Amino acid sequence: MRDALGEVQSVLVLGGGSDIGRALVTRLARRRCHTVVLAGRPEDDMDVVAEAARNAGATTVETIHWEATDVGSHDKVIGEVFATHGDIDLVYAPAGILGDQAAFEADPEFAAKAFDINTTGLVSSCLVVARHMREQGHGAIVLMSSVAGVRARKDNFVYGATKAGLDAFGQGLGDSLAGEGIRVMVVRPGFVHSKMTEGMEAAPFSTTPDKVAEAITNGLAKGSETVWVPGLLAYLFFVFRNLPRPIWRKVSDR
Ligand SMILES: NC(=O)c1ccc[n+]([C@@H]2O[C@H](COP(=O)([O-])OP(=O)(O)OC[C@H]3O[C@@H](n4cnc5c(N)ncnc54)[C@H](OP(=O)(O)O)[C@@H]3O)[C@@H](O)[C@H]2O)c1
Repeated sequence: MRDALGEVQSVLVLGGGSDIGRALVTRLARRRCHTVVLAGRPEDDMDVVAEAARNAGATTVETIHWEATDVGSHDKVIGEVFATHGDIDLVYAPAGILGDQAAFEADPEFAAKAFDINTTGLVSSCLVVARHMREQGHGAIVLMSSVAGVRARKDNFVYGATKAGLDAFGQGLGDSLAGEGIRVMVVRPGFVHSKMTEGMEAAPFSTTPDKVAEAITNGLAKGSETVWVPGLLAYLFFVFRNLPRPIWRKVSDR
């Protein structure tokens, strides 16, 4: 249950080694979040994130095995987190891969796997989370969409499509939970400097994991349903979303 000042006291991160996730749990732990459960793959950077959470003040920090593509395990794995830790105030879901459009086109199985990780695995997990949050009567779920999902570009439309699916799922889930004390926030960042984008040329209006984490905590405090990072992208993509296709093809040609 959030504390008297509305601060998150417990968080489950699906994709526990994420750079943005590390920035978020550090920020939350500094603001009295005492329980941090990092769920991810053994080879993920979860130990680094766990240490950052402890250094920032979290007193209960656990890492557990969660594989996005293993949808059959999600009910049990997530059920155990709620059974062990009681109420979970926030579930943050940064798991995802960016992949590469050329690699997706060369290997359609890889493209399908991107959907398994970025979309299907989070749909399955967040439906389990929603059931537990309904039982506890409160909570927030934060999903990582992307501007790439708002208007697909020809040079990364597979990734964009995975995010469009997740974004629509988040909106619908949020509407279905409205009035039950549970909120779903969809985050739409532009280019973020993280291990996901390492070595890539930064896109205009690039930002950092800390700025995304700040936008998430501000959004949670305000009860936002959609957060753009940076905020200016909301206006830019309002225009982009409405451009005729032939113009968009030219504008988005990089
Ligand atoms: N960085 C950006 O520019 C940007 C922009 C818009 C949206 N986003 C979205 O924001 C989220 C967080 O991004 P980030 O920048 O923090 O990237 P990140 O540091 O690469 O985090 C992604 C996390 O997902 C995990 N993951 C990948 N496949 C998985 C699987 N099959 N099962 C479980 N976990 C898996 C990764 O673990 P491993 O280390 O084991 O692979 C990693 O910890 C992502 O969903 C991303 O699409 C990022």
